Amino acid sequence: MKKLTYSLFIAFVASLLTLVTLYALVPEVPALPGDQEQRTIELSELEQHNHGASCWMAIEGKVYNLTTYIPLHPTRPAVILDWCGTEATEGMRTKGYGRDHSPAAWKMLEQYRIGELTLPKEDKRD
Ligand code: HEM
Repeated sequence: MKKLTYSLFIAFVASLLTLVTLYALVPEVPALPGDQEQRTIELSELEQHNHGASCWMAIEGKVYNLTTYIPLHPTRPAVILDWCGTEATEGMRTKGYGRDHSPAAWKMLEQYRIGELTLPKEDKRD
């Protein structure tokens, strides 16, 4: 009986040690770009990122850096490249033919968020 208790105790300690070791070995989940510090971006800055080497889009008030996503998009690059450097909510909402992207696509978009678009102050004329 004593032997059994001793074996159970050893097994318990061994499993605890295994858990602690595993915990130490598992790398921390890297933060998504969307979790990083966000900043406000003016239209003039957005407009400079209007090509494949640096492609930003404003969609529903948020700004996304989609440079690395362009080769992953399931169309020929030109379809999405046309929207780089622009307010692209219409492109995202219509895919160019009146049909919204799937919820999965919208979720994916969040990984690329870098900030919020600041709108220019209303031109106040008397
Ligand atoms: C703003 C300009 C964009 C345009 C004009 C555009 C257009 C299209 C077109 C024509 C298709 C293929 C046809 C179809 O599936 O119905 C498509 C599919 C897709 N696009 Fe885009 N796209 C744009 C931006 C994006 C962005 C920014 C993402 C994600 C980061 C994205 C993710 C996807 C995905 C995942 C699909 C597969 C179908 C779906 O899930 O809706 N697209 N897009």
